[in-house]
Amino acid sequence: MKRLKVIAFAAATLLCCISLSAKPKVRIVATGGTIAGVSSSSSSSAYTAGQVGIQTLIDAVPQILDLADVSGEQLVNIGSQDMNDEVWLKLAKRVNQLLEEEDYDAVVITHGTDTMEETAYFLNLTVKSDKPVIMAGSMRPSTAISADGPANLYNAVAAAVSPACEGMGVLCCMNNQLLDAKTVIKTHTIDCDTFEGGPSGIIGYVYNGEAHMLQRPMNKHTTESVFDVSGLDKLPQVGIVYGYANASALPMKAFVDAKFDGIVLAGVGDGNFYKDVFEVAVEAQQKGIQIVRSSRCPTGPTCLNSEVDDAKYHFVASLDLNPQKARVLLMLALTRTHDWEKIQEYFMEY
Ligand code: DGL
Repeated sequence: MKRLKVIAFAAATLLCCISLSAKPKVRIVATGGTIAGVSSSSSSSAYTAGQVGIQTLIDAVPQILDLADVSGEQLVNIGSQDMNDEVWLKLAKRVNQLLEEEDYDAVVITHGTDTMEETAYFLNLTVKSDKPVIMAGSMRPSTAISADGPANLYNAVAAAVSPACEGMGVLCCMNNQLLDAKTVIKTHTIDCDTFEGGPSGIIGYVYNGEAHMLQRPMNKHTTESVFDVSGLDKLPQVGIVYGYANASALPMKAFVDAKFDGIVLAGVGDGNFYKDVFEVAVEAQQKGIQIVRSSRCPTGPTCLNSEVDDAKYHFVASLDLNPQKARVLLMLALTRTHDWEKIQEYFMEY
């Protein structure tokens, strides 16, 4: 009997040690981008995105193994200028499967920076978990002098294992900073500190392998989101029309003729647009194509019923969403309703 007690105690102690030493399980899902890019020479600015596989990226930063039990998978290997609905749906479903069915503690996604803000916001509305989902990219290819990818990947894994990042929605981790999915925007074509958080700024930062949060998202996301893509194999078609002086109505007409489900206007100022474009927008709305007014201005809200009587035309105002994110929310809203007032509510909530 005494022998049995000794064996039981030893087993319990071993299990306790194993559990204490067990690191968080983090899955890195790679999609390509400059972080996986290769340049012809380390000093050359000429490079091709989406060339290096995820295991090579992981092997280049062995320090991440001190932070977590890390494994990787290659979903696609593309420049994010080629990101599309098919990959978005595949990525959202895979992240949900990893977090909910395969019980990973967090997911890191490597992605190009060109459309990272759009993918982040799409996942912010479709991932059904409070666990950290951290996106990372780079502005210099993996072969460049002072490549920024390895540090961004390390910091992303550090954020992924930080309890402070739970329940924050999808975050982007670039240049030691954490940015939330709704406000993150790429502001510079080539600088490493290209990502900013708009008027609200960054949501946190990563330093010495730890995430430090400065604020929380104000909008609904992830587990609070009503949007569910699990049963979808395609998304509504929504285009964006850019506004400018004496704008041609042809792009708008083309979307109408192609029977798009929605059209976002990157209007001038507070979401205004040239009279020829306005006329086509009114006709489009009357045909059941939902119009959302947004702005080409980099900051500031597109206000409801300001210079444009949205209630009269049944237009939706994008409020704090820029055109590319307004398009994401309109696509998902149209999977649930074509009611312009309900869609406006979504823009107030998400
Ligand atoms: N081709 C661009 C992309 O994949 C390069 C930009 C980058 O990843 O930093 O988004």
